[in-house]
Amino acid sequence: DKGNHRHFMEKEIYEQPEVVSHTLAHYLDFTAGKVRGIASEIDFSSVEALKIAACGTAYYAGQIGKYWLERYARLPVEIDVASEFRYREMPLPGNQAALFVSQSGETADTLASLRYCKEHGLKIGSIVNVPESTIARESDVVFPILAGPEIGVASTKAFTCQLATFAALTIAAGRARGTLIADEETNMVRALSEVPRIASSVLNQIQPPLETLSRDLARYHHVLYLGRGTNYTLAMEGALKLKEISYIHAEGYAAGELKHGPIALIDENMPVIVIAPSDRHFEKTVSNMQEVAARGGRIIFVTDEKGAAASDLETMATIVLPDVDELLMPLIFSLPIQLIAYYTAVFMGTDVDQPRNLAKSVTVE
Ligand code: M6R
Repeated sequence: DKGNHRHFMEKEIYEQPEVVSHTLAHYLDFTAGKVRGIASEIDFSSVEALKIAACGTAYYAGQIGKYWLERYARLPVEIDVASEFRYREMPLPGNQAALFVSQSGETADTLASLRYCKEHGLKIGSIVNVPESTIARESDVVFPILAGPEIGVASTKAFTCQLATFAALTIAAGRARGTLIADEETNMVRALSEVPRIASSVLNQIQPPLETLSRDLARYHHVLYLGRGTNYTLAMEGALKLKEISYIHAEGYAAGELKHGPIALIDENMPVIVIAPSDRHFEKTVSNMQEVAARGGRIIFVTDEKGAAASDLETMATIVLPDVDELLMPLIFSLPIQLIAYYTAVFMGTDVDQPRNLAKSVTVE
């Protein structure tokens, strides 16, 4: 049932404040300001490294998980798309754990990667939405994301619930490894408790500017997304979302890679979506944005209030989100990224929930 929504995808985007609050409450004790025991069912203090494998959007959630686990828990993480992971024949010393991210829990390549790690004796964890799935059943530890059924082929609420789960695992790992002191844990838990409220106010506010922007974007044939750090991952996730439902060719690039090739593509026919809230990468990304502007590229600047105040570049659109703690940025900046793809596809009249050639669950390789 789509309720008042035109598509399941729209419904699932707007459900995020509620489902993410369930995920967070499952893993975090807001009153105590601490992560719950269920987030530490992998003994993060004894593992020397973590392997992650997943596909598509689940892979991008894993990549943000990697950035968080490395930064806050000092845990070395390697991530691969599962179709590569399963055939790489990599050595797997036993003092590692492996984590598989999958909404459906049935993705063939992700399951094969899990089995490869199992054969090598690794402890297996999975972050899944379907608890009865094959991937969940074959795991030693299951971290449910509690997003509820996701019908739209384009994954939206599963992504943010996967991120919420990774945020909790990061805090658990940071505590176990002694890299986060009690105050830091409490600050992170308190910050995360704000996500549902901020997400719902963002969803209420950004619809009009994003609809206007998407009407313009629907006229182009190519779109480039740029970002640094976790916003680099969101750049790739945004490009995936746009191409899968609007069929506009899109690419996500690390902003620092711009001058290593893609800058040659920039002209007035190439809108560039720059995801740059005022984090520690902001100034570097703004200078990439200036390089785009100097070559006649049209910029769509997705930023926060501080970021908007700090740049006076002329843009095709500037989407301003509230200033949030850096840890929350991927959870909040996913929302405009999803909606840009959604409204663009709606303007183009594509089959948003069932895009051509795609299946919700990819059970063959
Ligand atoms: O069920 P899974 O999370 O394992 O699926 C992985 C990908 O097939 C999936 O995320 C796909 O990329 C989505 N259509 C992206 O929106």
